[in-house]
Amino acid sequence: EVTKDWNGADQVAIRSPRGASVRVCLHGGQVVSWRNDRGEELLFTSSKAIFKPPRATRGGIPICFPQFGNCGTLEQHGFARNKIWTIDEEAPPLNYGDNNNNKASVDLLLKPSEDDLKCWPHCFELRLRVSLSMDGDLSLISRVRNVNGKPFSFAFAYHTYLSVSDISEVRIEGLETLDYLDNLSQRERFTEQGDAITFESEVDRVYVGSPGVIAVLDHEKKRTFIVRKEGLPDIVVWNPWEKKSKTMADFGDEEYKQMLCVDAAAVERAITLKPGEEWTGKLELSAVPSTNCSDH
Ligand code: BG6
Repeated sequence: EVTKDWNGADQVAIRSPRGASVRVCLHGGQVVSWRNDRGEELLFTSSKAIFKPPRATRGGIPICFPQFGNCGTLEQHGFARNKIWTIDEEAPPLNYGDNNNNKASVDLLLKPSEDDLKCWPHCFELRLRVSLSMDGDLSLISRVRNVNGKPFSFAFAYHTYLSVSDISEVRIEGLETLDYLDNLSQRERFTEQGDAITFESEVDRVYVGSPGVIAVLDHEKKRTFIVRKEGLPDIVVWNPWEKKSKTMADFGDEEYKQMLCVDAAAVERAITLKPGEEWTGKLELSAVPSTNCSDH
């Protein structure tokens, strides 16, 4: 099902037979909504978000490519999130029940424009498959192919804005004892000490070499997000907290309490592709009720 969004940029929606849904915008290849089968929105979008290309919308899952943050010559987080993607006609969409699969999916494609090639002279194809399982799990699979004559390197992140009830009641499990680069102190390297990660001030970190599965526990909502990733060694954790929130035009002053960015990413070490090579980076998100033993 293809629907139009508020500004005429195409959106694609997938709805599972049990009522879960996901909406993806061709602007940025950005997932802008993910709802469970009770209709609850699981991703944060700011009430002040600006839905106007070429700017990425504040919320959902923008794609950072080929640069993360401002480490490079390109615009912050690279250009992919600001571009209009197309439906990838070469990849026929999966539908529930076809060949007994329990997923439906849509495939998007981004190729560089003449302008992109001027600031980043590498011919690539970036494909994104967004799938929703019958149970409402969301999966994003990205493939970057080098169709250039020379090798190139890039960074990548699924900049995932999770919706939480109260940031002070949230903790992340799975990143304890890891090293992280702290964006708040010129990417200085520290080692995480605590048990689980909790929040009481601004956080902007790249946890390097993180495990394939981490959990984000929302105590108040009694909900746990399970984040599974492949091909993406790092996890970026970001919450702007009070002071920074006030400096962002497209973000409410108090909204930092309702969001947490947990990005499956390849940031510390760039990914290099030789001519003809392809890289795959996969993110799977599930939202499950917290069990008694993990909800303490
Ligand atoms: C995070 C970065 O991932 O994204 C932060 O680590 C940055 O440093 C944040 O402020 C938001 O970036 P933007 O460009 O979407 O405002």
